Amino acid sequence: MNHSGGSHVFLTGATGLIGRHLLRRLLDADPARTVSILSRRPCAIPCDRVAVLRGDLAQPRFGLNPADWDALRRSVTGIIHCGADVRFGLPLEESRAVNVGGAATAIELARGCSRLRQFAHISTVYVAGSAAVELPEAPYDNVHGFFNTYEQSKYEAEKLVQAEPALPAAIWRLSNVVGDSRTGHVEQYNHVHQLLRLAPHAPLPILPATPEARIDVIATDWAVAAIAILFDRRFRAGEIRNLCAGYERSLSVAEMTRVTFDGLTSRAPKLVSPERFRLFAKSAEALGNARIRALLEQLSLFVPHLSVRQEFRNDSTLELLRSEGMPDPDSADLFRRVVLHCRQAA
Ligand SMILES: NC(=O)c1ccc[n+]([C@@H]2O[C@H](COP(=O)([O-])OP(=O)(O)OC[C@H]3O[C@@H](n4cnc5c(N)ncnc54)[C@H](OP(=O)(O)O)[C@@H]3O)[C@@H](O)[C@H]2O)c1
Repeated sequence: MNHSGGSHVFLTGATGLIGRHLLRRLLDADPARTVSILSRRPCAIPCDRVAVLRGDLAQPRFGLNPADWDALRRSVTGIIHCGADVRFGLPLEESRAVNVGGAATAIELARGCSRLRQFAHISTVYVAGSAAVELPEAPYDNVHGFFNTYEQSKYEAEKLVQAEPALPAAIWRLSNVVGDSRTGHVEQYNHVHQLLRLAPHAPLPILPATPEARIDVIATDWAVAAIAILFDRRFRAGEIRNLCAGYERSLSVAEMTRVTFDGLTSRAPKLVSPERFRLFAKSAEALGNARIRALLEQLSLFVPHLSVRQEFRNDSTLELLRSEGMPDPDSADLFRRVVLHCRQAA
């Protein structure tokens, strides 16, 4: 592939939810741009401006052969590190191998790229972890811990990027990407959808949640458009941005529960304190209810967020995106559409 002095982006995670849409936008935005993607499995991209490099985030130098690694160092002008293992339940060392190891290798590559102008690291607002906090659009020191190993490994990855002031690096943190803003179509089911899919069966009479706590959700198309705009038009090294709806625009758990159960015959679970829920979980275990036990285990990795007031600041980012013609995220409308989609797909 001939890079001929133009924009050449190295993109990890290009086969994933965010990465595959981002790849399309990057190609459309600049007809002269070439993109090299890292993929651990064979994949055919029908575009002669895309080179697929087989490799693995957890391997030294991504497992690339030396010729490919050196070619990247000579020609890459931008790196978007979007790849990650997003599973919440992995042992910490497995999460770290991909998410921290992958970030370390992306940094190593960036350091050696003679033409590099931009390094974008895609992160998550859940570097905020398990505490009731306000997450600024700035470096954040988590002293309270995490609800799962994904959050912890993404936090550690962010810290590696922040420790590289000489790199032209920016960090963009996403909140929960739940579906398409127009159709509610869900391409990838995550913890939020798992909860939604449980609703018609109402397997739990109670749920640990603070009714006023808010869960921040954004649309896939909004998240991808925001990343593309920041990368192509408003890139600034050293910036950290929270790509999220923000506290004021997010639905409370009580509102989400109402929307989720609206029109269903099943009864919404009562929202109770984590302490009361723990007693219930213990008695379910004591009764040897394997189905409930498995469900509780699965939920334990995300559901604690429903009991914590977390606020992700995004004022300056929304202002900047507005100036680029982007609408603010409409979480209420998005959530309603996604709920309907999940019901129809059930
Ligand atoms: N989606 C969300 O709600 C959300 C929220 C906050 C932050 N984020 C962040 O956004 C980024 C993209 O997430 P996503 O939702 O698009 O996740 P995704 O759909 O699971 O995609 C993850 C991507 O990473 C690749 N990957 C995983 N392990 C790899 C490995 N060992 N070697 C090489 N590639 C590997 C996957 O490749 P395969 O196709 O081979 O699996 C895939 O391309 C991640 O950094 C994530 O932390 C996402």
